Amino acid sequence: MYDFRPDAALPKAELYRQLIAAAAALTEAERDGIANMANVAALMWEYLPDLNWAGFYRVVDGELVLGPFAGRPACIRIPLGQGVCGAAAASGATQLVPDVHAFPGHIACDAASRSELVVPVARDRVVIAVIDLDSPLLARFDSEDAAGVEALAAMLATRI
Ligand code: SME
Repeated sequence: MYDFRPDAALPKAELYRQLIAAAAALTEAERDGIANMANVAALMWEYLPDLNWAGFYRVVDGELVLGPFAGRPACIRIPLGQGVCGAAAASGATQLVPDVHAFPGHIACDAASRSELVVPVARDRVVIAVIDLDSPLLARFDSEDAAGVEALAAMLATRI
């Protein structure tokens, strides 16, 4: 049994340190990328407060395809360059969006989403997936969240 009990009162940097340590431990001995993404989606959901979606899109044949996640059913395929996820995948740069209504081309999978953080996962400089976090709160994510998820993505690059 895995019993992760994150303390939401922890400073953000420490919360991410613990999340990454748990993700590293869970994925270390497993070679199946889907299994690893599934467990990491569940961990993000457990560790990070005020989310309504947490998960992965994979780059498959030049488009983003829905991967393991926690939350409501979501858009299945997203062309590179479209929406927040597509922008992250096409540019290779983290997208920190405080108000999704102000992001041109935002794809609303859940009308409740108000802010979003999308971080590319790159292996050998090629984007292979993105990590997508959505929140029903405006401006839920800041630069500490971006740094934390970027560190998680770097650790996962060879494990998904
Ligand atoms: N809002 C995202 C689409 C993915 S869902 O939020 C899960 C976007 O604009 O890329």
